[in-house]
Amino acid sequence: MNFQLTEEHQAVRDAAREFAQSELLPGVIERDTEAKFPYEQVKKMGELGFMGMMVDPKYNGGGMDTISYAIAMEEISKVDASASVCMSVNNSLVLWGLEKYGTEAQREKYIPKLATGEIIGAFCLSEPEAGSDATSQRTTAELNGDHYILNGTKNWITNGGNASVYLVIAQTDPSKGHKGISVFIVEKGWDGFVIGKKEDKLGIRGSDTHSLMFTDVKVPVENRIGEEGFGFTFAMETLNGGRIGIAAQALGIAAGAYELALAYSKERKAFGKPISQHQAIQFKLADMATQIEAARLLVYKAAWLKDQGEDYAHASAMAKLYASEVAMNVTVEAVQVHGGYGYVKEYHVERLMRDAKITQIYEGTSEIQKIVIARGILR
Ligand code: CAA
Repeated sequence: MNFQLTEEHQAVRDAAREFAQSELLPGVIERDTEAKFPYEQVKKMGELGFMGMMVDPKYNGGGMDTISYAIAMEEISKVDASASVCMSVNNSLVLWGLEKYGTEAQREKYIPKLATGEIIGAFCLSEPEAGSDATSQRTTAELNGDHYILNGTKNWITNGGNASVYLVIAQTDPSKGHKGISVFIVEKGWDGFVIGKKEDKLGIRGSDTHSLMFTDVKVPVENRIGEEGFGFTFAMETLNGGRIGIAAQALGIAAGAYELALAYSKERKAFGKPISQHQAIQFKLADMATQIEAARLLVYKAAWLKDQGEDYAHASAMAKLYASEVAMNVTVEAVQVHGGYGYVKEYHVERLMRDAKITQIYEGTSEIQKIVIARGILR
């Protein structure tokens, strides 16, 4: 067992940290306030290889392992969780499944541009009445000759407005329940595909969350990924990996807030000494550091299992459950360490606290992670 990062991992961490500090930090408060998508920043993330980190280099990807991806997600999330969720969805909810299960024609057509951030992707599973209960898909895709007719509504779709390629989960045979669900590649601009309004959110306000409406959208048969009926397994497997990305995001939000609180506690004086010299603050810092380290170990373990080709569904659910809880705890405490300054935008921790909450909700709520973990234990 080896707990040290390799030189490659350290280089990824340094590059992501440098990018986050120089390109994401300037303007992050304004983008949050104005709910502005980090368009230019995402383009640069693509140029630097962050949008397709694990993709095979033959499709313009970085050919890196999942640990590298988790490390980069942590560093970028320390500063801008709106940019990192865009990165996470593109890497693990869109590119992973396209590369693993797509046909060669689908891979060649879509992956190179997605992997370089020239275009971005979205993953469309949630519906107005199918969130945690993901088997209850109402969106339908009816076969009609050489194409399907897609009808339905998707909700809470990250990258919804800015994506060019959408992986859409839909029922092709409702009589078969979740075994009648399939997955399709849908392109922006196709007739009948309408992008709904952008959601006005508590946190990750720069990220681009929309509902999507499909009315008699013609989807060519060659845009189905895998066989009919494969869609639910595709979605679950995709989310197993996606949850490593969100766990790393939660870890980064927590670590970012902790670093700010630590620095502030050394500068701010009260009762004649820096507040870091008061035990009340020291205990907070100790709890934060311990929780973050534990979350990091769970994230790395899940990523490592994936890289070893072993089952990681259980580990990724544990990592997401715990890291998102840590993100909430640590960001609340970071605001507390800052006192009144923590409650204003300028000091960043209030944003991180708002951003933390979503990590307990998307890509499976904490309650869903407990279902996945409990089923793994009892199987
Ligand atoms: N990995 C692989 N397969 C899985 C799985 C997993 N984690 N969980 C379930 N499955 C398989 C089961 O083995 C079963 O397959 P078989 O029928 O072949 O045996 C099938 O899926 C159905 O499973 P269940 O009978 O367990 O179904 P269920 O309805 O009782 O519960 C659930 C399934 C785990 C609760 C699932 O619905 C779930 O994960 N829900 C949460 C969905 C979710 O994470 N949504 C997030 C939306 S995406 C998002 O947020 C993206 C974004 O934009 C940021």
